[in-house]
Amino acid sequence: MSDERKPTTTTDAGIPAASDDHSLSAGPNGPLLLQDHYLIQKMAQFNRERVPERVVHAKGGGAHGFFEVTAEVTPYTKAAFLNRVGKRTPVFIRFSTVAGELGSADTMRDPRGFAIKFYTEEGNYDLVGNNTPIFFIRDPQKFSDFIHSQKRHPVTNTRDHDMQWDFWAQSPESAHQVAFLMTDRGTPRSWRHMNGYSSHTFMWINAQGNRFWVKYHFKTDQGIDNFADGEAKAMVSEDPDHHMRDLFNAIEGGDHPSWTLQMQIMPFDAAKEYRFNPFDLTKVWPHGDFPPITIGRLVLDRNPANYFAEVEQAAFEPSNMVPGIGPSPDKMLIGRLFSYPDTHRHRIGTNYQQLPINLPHSEVHSYNKDGGMRYRHNGDQPVYAPNSYGGPVADPQHEEPGWFVSGEIVRSASQPHSDDDDYRSASDAVDRCALGDGSRPHDCEHRRPSEGGCPAGDPRAGRRLLAEDPPRSRRPRRCGRGTADYIGGDRQPVGPQGSARRLIKRLDKRGPCERPKRSCSERKDRLRARGPRPRKARRQPQPASVPLGAQSSSPVVGFAIPTQRAINQGPFEEDHTARIIVVKPRGPNSGGRSHPVGDHLGCQRFPVGRGTGPSSGYASHPRAGLGG
Ligand code: HEM
Repeated sequence: MSDERKPTTTTDAGIPAASDDHSLSAGPNGPLLLQDHYLIQKMAQFNRERVPERVVHAKGGGAHGFFEVTAEVTPYTKAAFLNRVGKRTPVFIRFSTVAGELGSADTMRDPRGFAIKFYTEEGNYDLVGNNTPIFFIRDPQKFSDFIHSQKRHPVTNTRDHDMQWDFWAQSPESAHQVAFLMTDRGTPRSWRHMNGYSSHTFMWINAQGNRFWVKYHFKTDQGIDNFADGEAKAMVSEDPDHHMRDLFNAIEGGDHPSWTLQMQIMPFDAAKEYRFNPFDLTKVWPHGDFPPITIGRLVLDRNPANYFAEVEQAAFEPSNMVPGIGPSPDKMLIGRLFSYPDTHRHRIGTNYQQLPINLPHSEVHSYNKDGGMRYRHNGDQPVYAPNSYGGPVADPQHEEPGWFVSGEIVRSASQPHSDDDDYRSASDAVDRCALGDGSRPHDCEHRRPSEGGCPAGDPRAGRRLLAEDPPRSRRPRRCGRGTADYIGGDRQPVGPQGSARRLIKRLDKRGPCERPKRSCSERKDRLRARGPRPRKARRQPQPASVPLGAQSSSPVVGFAIPTQRAINQGPFEEDHTARIIVVKPRGPNSGGRSHPVGDHLGCQRFPVGRGTGPSSGYASHPRAGLGG
């Protein structure tokens, strides 16, 4: 641009500025003058450039696009933006990592946020999900504790594997999400190459008042693609903003990523008697029971014009639900309905909803007024209701959808359904030899029969989504190699359990635990008394695979806990991904109630059995319940 066409610099009040280079001073070498209000404004404004970063999901990027309805869904919901095939609704989406700060690397092993704002004619609808269909916990009471364990240590101010695994190990309900996280899906190749899930169950209600429970699955049309652990780590130093750059460049280059929206829909009354609690965020609904139905597509076709204004100030809130869509009894979801608007008021300011990125495309007629930085108002509209002066009137036809509840007020976990436990959902997923999409050789190296993996695996299982249960009757036979591959990271097959002798040797080498619950010598005695395990016909290399106390015959996912001391001493020095284990109870020795290696490494005790211990989140309280 030539000099003639450049606009004149101004102050924020629009007053022309005299210099971009020099402050006002008394003589060329003299002191600066207080009357240089332009300099002062520049410095003061700079000091206030940051708003607090998000307390979680701080690092992310976003894009604009649209959602298009591709199938009739009016039998299930009266939501206006879904009421016609071909209807398009503008959206803004933000992807993120969870635990890292604003400047952290995009390719760290972490779940990815997948937050969508639909600007519908009935107000904003926000679906704030992740790239995982499950979550670590099932009660909002534990959320801040969980996040504290994944963030920085209060003394060292470093990320701390011990805290992370300590929390997970004490929270058996996290098994499925941790297993997912430790696969290659914990390190997506790009935001374009991952799915998005509501994770929670929501309610849909149609024009006749019929209610349904639903889950959203946004399946990437680009195909799932992930980094292997090493690749993801290499990218941390090569380009910490890899995912953000990838999305921006793709859209800028006209390569518009898209996702197909599939819904799982459960009849309202089926929830009560369903074999597990369908509102439990740590579980997926089996596709065999609730086949996903394709209903739409999401396309991203425009980059933000300004990162701060549109991405950093974007405020998503699960409580933004439009008529035809409501919450479910998922306690996590209900906790989130409070949390997000609250954090936005703190992070961005009282009137965050007036910022262009958050402003509904429909008219706003609320009775809220004033507050910091308000610029929208309703003129002389009455400021109270009811009034006799033509102010807005609420419409009872938009009553929030609900469900029947009864019961005393208690602090209790939800009452378990017949098949509820903490591990089944995780171990079903882990147990699937062929989990994925086969999109890259790396993903399938242990899975294709021709390559020696999963000889009896269901070939269709390779097309199935990682964490979605196959129908029980069609489950592939178990295959240790595939299982190890699911676990990710180390790529070692999970073989038969380590023998007692080997464990004793290891205990001997390491010396006593620093904070033993039971001393190592006691443990050695116990192992000696137990004798060797039955051998398998063909032996395979041994990873750190140890028995958890499984009382049932289903496989159990467990975690060996890497304390710093254990990491220093090895053999677990590589990285924390090597230390997740899968245990398949085999024979009489597999049902013990201890976890020798894990015990030793971290001197931790694992919750055992079917996940009904105090931390598992299942109620033993006879009065606890979901209500209808
Ligand atoms: C009780 C449980 C939870 C609480 C209290 C909670 C709280 C929060 C808070 C305070 C933020 C920061 C929001 C901001 O500053 O803009 C956030 C962000 C986020 N959370 Fe949660 N969260 C919970 C569970 C979940 C779950 C289960 C999911 C996914 C299924 C999830 C997905 C997200 C996403 C995607 C973001 C980033 C939104 C954005 O891009 O701005 N959260 N959460």
